[in-house]
Amino acid sequence: MATTLISGGTVVSAIGRREADVLIDGESIAAILAPGHAAAYGITPDSVIDATGKYVVPGGVDAHVHMSLPFGGTVSADDFDTGSRAAAWGGVTTIVDFASQTVGLDVRDVLAARHEEAAGECHVDYAFHQIIGDVNDESLKAMTDLVENEGVTSFKMFMAYPGVFYSDDGQILRAMQNTSESGGLMMMHAENGIAIDVLVAQSLARGDSDPKYHSYTRPEELESEATHRAIKLARVAGNVPLYIVHMSASEALEEVSRAQHMGLNVFAETCPQYLYLSIEDHLAQPGFEGAKWVCSTPLRSKHEHHQKDLWKGLRMNELAVVSTDHCPFCMKDQKELGLGDFSKIPNGMGGVEHRMELIYQGVVMGEMTLERWVETCCTTPARMFGLDKKGVLEPGADADVLVWDPNARTKIGVDDKHHMAMDHSSYEGFEVDGKVDTVLSRGRVMVQNDEYLGAKGHGKFVKRTLSKYLH
Ligand code: URP
Ligand code: ZN
Ligand code: ZN
Repeated sequence: MATTLISGGTVVSAIGRREADVLIDGESIAAILAPGHAAAYGITPDSVIDATGKYVVPGGVDAHVHMSLPFGGTVSADDFDTGSRAAAWGGVTTIVDFASQTVGLDVRDVLAARHEEAAGECHVDYAFHQIIGDVNDESLKAMTDLVENEGVTSFKMFMAYPGVFYSDDGQILRAMQNTSESGGLMMMHAENGIAIDVLVAQSLARGDSDPKYHSYTRPEELESEATHRAIKLARVAGNVPLYIVHMSASEALEEVSRAQHMGLNVFAETCPQYLYLSIEDHLAQPGFEGAKWVCSTPLRSKHEHHQKDLWKGLRMNELAVVSTDHCPFCMKDQKELGLGDFSKIPNGMGGVEHRMELIYQGVVMGEMTLERWVETCCTTPARMFGLDKKGVLEPGADADVLVWDPNARTKIGVDDKHHMAMDHSSYEGFEVDGKVDTVLSRGRVMVQNDEYLGAKGHGKFVKRTLSKYLH
């Protein structure tokens, strides 16, 4: 098997940094060596990657993406091929997508179909969560089977989107009880969808139909209320581990923080869009432009401390993970479905390529440490979702590596760095410090010298174990 030495860099983990060389043997990390010591051990690697002046970190793990998601009358624009390739360009070597069960569908069937869709298409390794949108005796049985036999150990449910993915409290409770017994983890889209639909109808009746009303009809109270309710339901269901997805608002974060102080098994993620984008600067842009930034939970006002609080939450571990909720839609033919009616704009934005870049900028801005960047973007998502060989650089782990150049810069935009299948960039014009230098997925060089060297089909399905936070 071929050996590679990544030499001269600073290896950064969730707990510290040190000058070290990384020896890769085939698809795995073989050793972390004191700088320059490979020769002393008689090691002559087949190839050397010079990481002098650079950081060497685990490949990113994006635990929340939606490739080819049928949603809002269309299908998200990146498929497993284009989306996982964009992930590699962004230093992300594992993605976790979703199989979706809606009313009337069989859980095992939709998971099998999702496997077929992804097989042979992915550039980087991938895993699945299971969306549960129809709780019944059969789907509950299947949930246990997925945890025990299929390597699908987490479920996503929705308190939002009535008529699409929505579940009521009784259904959620039953699914949580089942998950509590099987040892799985429950992810929750926490927004009160029933109340939101009333506000949406009222807004449209008033003639308030521009994209910005997407956020005004999803006030933070309806995110925090749902977060609170999910926490209580999880407690009733035997303190099942609960993971709140795409958290956008201060009040909801307070609910999570309070639950954690009470000793409950409650975790949460946020996404780059909630740390950088706002109603004023993005969603409320004139005309239909704001449609680019319609996503749920929605962007919030920049004047209400949400961004500051979310950064604080990341520092304090109230927010354990940064994911992207990558769910891109083009303006043409997709976002345009909502011209004149914001409620018909497909919800979602793309970002799988930019998470490592945008969160590293948080390090530069002093919002978090370098180690915390690695922890929230690589190590914790791997531990949270039972990806046992991902998220760390240690002997035996998969050789998923990102060499990061802190002295270069990255310009994001459709005519700059942009490899997602979108006709616009959610972060157009952003220029950030640092740059993806080299990316390896299980020992294979995917990106080097601004050139793409990966290939469709390299990415393999990863069976996940139970969350390492509780098992
Ligand atoms: O707007 C979003 N977040 N679209 C993707 C589906 C979801 O709720 O995660
Ligand atoms: Zn969601
Ligand atoms: Zn999502």
